[in-house]
Amino acid sequence: MIDLSVRDGIARLVLNRPDKLNALTAEMCDMLAARCREIERGTARVVILSGAGKAFCAGGDIEAWAGETPEAFGDHWVRDGHAAFDALARLTVPVIAQLDGHALGGGLELAACADLRIAEQHIKIGQPETGLGIIPGWSGTQRAVRRFGAQVVRRMALFGEVFDAEEARRLGLVDHVIATGAAHVLAEDLAARVLSRGPQATKLTKMLINAADREDPERIAEALAGRIAAGTDELREGLSAFREKRKPDFS
Ligand code: COA
Repeated sequence: MIDLSVRDGIARLVLNRPDKLNALTAEMCDMLAARCREIERGTARVVILSGAGKAFCAGGDIEAWAGETPEAFGDHWVRDGHAAFDALARLTVPVIAQLDGHALGGGLELAACADLRIAEQHIKIGQPETGLGIIPGWSGTQRAVRRFGAQVVRRMALFGEVFDAEEARRLGLVDHVIATGAAHVLAEDLAARVLSRGPQATKLTKMLINAADREDPERIAEALAGRIAAGTDELREGLSAFREKRKPDFS
């Protein structure tokens, strides 16, 4: 239900549950987290995220969460969804969200995890959750506020405003609006731009931007320091000494 293919440095991540407009179940969240781990360990240098069929994503699966007990909802539904969305937002390679269909509720929150959003002109974007008696979850009041600003989130989440693509672009919810059917072409162009740039510099830059954007800055600091430490003669000497059962010589 979450497909991944990687070719020529581009990972294509596709929500594939078109009959339910790609509404996300707990199982799909787990798959998303697993797919992000695969991407992180693989050769992809940029990700294009899209939805199969006519929607990008119509949010969390209403039937699935409506059936949860309050405890289960608060525990695994929230926790597992956050783990998946965090994994996506914290990939070290850039992520492009290709919105060739509506992005509502969890769909908007998922798109917020990307570094760039392309919307086809016919799509709608919003946060209908309070109209269903639930809060915008999976960081819909946190990451969404950080990335888009509090006022536009207020308009969607508190007043139920749903924006068309052009208005969404004006408000900073999406970066580019393009004719219906053309989002994949622009996504490929933008992915090619990423591929033409320095891969390590791009990764490091994304990590720094994520740290500034409060995407787990402690882990990023450790990851950057770890990269430096792992490249030193000091480590090589420490490991040699361990294997040769002698005291290390750090002079
Ligand atoms: N959760 C579960 N199922 C969903 C869903 C969701 N969030 N969104 C859509 N679906 C299902 C519909 O129930 C329908 O299933 P069915 O064919 O078995 O009846 C199928 O997807 C197609 O949706 P439908 O409503 O018939 O399509 P539409 O084109 O008429 O309307 C939307 C599209 C997006 C406007 C409408 O589906 C909608 O409002 N969805 C809910 C969006 C939402 O509130 N998201 C926040 C969830 S927290």
